[in-house]
Amino acid sequence: MGLERTLSIIKPDATKKNVIGKILSRFEEAGLKLIAVSMKTLSPEEAGEFYAVHRARPFYGELVDYMTTGPVVISVLEGHDAIATNRKLMGATDPKKADKGTIRADFAESINANAVHGSDSAENAANEIKFFFPELSR
Ligand code: CMP
Repeated sequence: MGLERTLSIIKPDATKKNVIGKILSRFEEAGLKLIAVSMKTLSPEEAGEFYAVHRARPFYGELVDYMTTGPVVISVLEGHDAIATNRKLMGATDPKKADKGTIRADFAESINANAVHGSDSAENAANEIKFFFPELSR
C-alpha cells in the first residue's frame, strides 16, 4: 500500500482525560502526518449520520448517544499504509482485548468509550473524510 489517508476521532472519554496530545503524538511518532484537525461536540444528527453504517446494530443508539457527550478531536492522518497503521496503533475495539501499548489498552474505558475511532477500509476512510472535511475531497 502507498500513501493513504484515514479519519481518526479522539472520543469524549479521551478528551475528558486530557490525553489529546499524547494520542496525537502516537500518530506522529508512527510517521502519520496530521493534515486536518477539528475539535467539536457532535450533534445527535452528525453522530447518527457518521455511524450510519452501524444503524442496524444493537449498539447503534448507545454509541450515537455516547459520541455526543463531550468534545471530540477529528483528524485526517496521511502516511504510508495509514489505515492499517492507525488500526494497529489503536488496538482492538474492545479495550479488554487490545494489545499492550496500544491507544485503547492505555486510555480506553469500555467498548463505546474506547478512546479512538479509525476508518476500517479505504472506502470508509474516503466517506468519513468527506463527511467531516469535504474541502479535502474536491
Ligand atoms: P468505532 O471504531 O468508533 O466504530 C464503531 C463503534 O461501535 C466501535 O468503535 C465501538 O465503540 C462501538 N461498539 C459498541 N459495541 C460494539 C460491538 N459489540 N462491536 C463493535 N463495536 C461496538
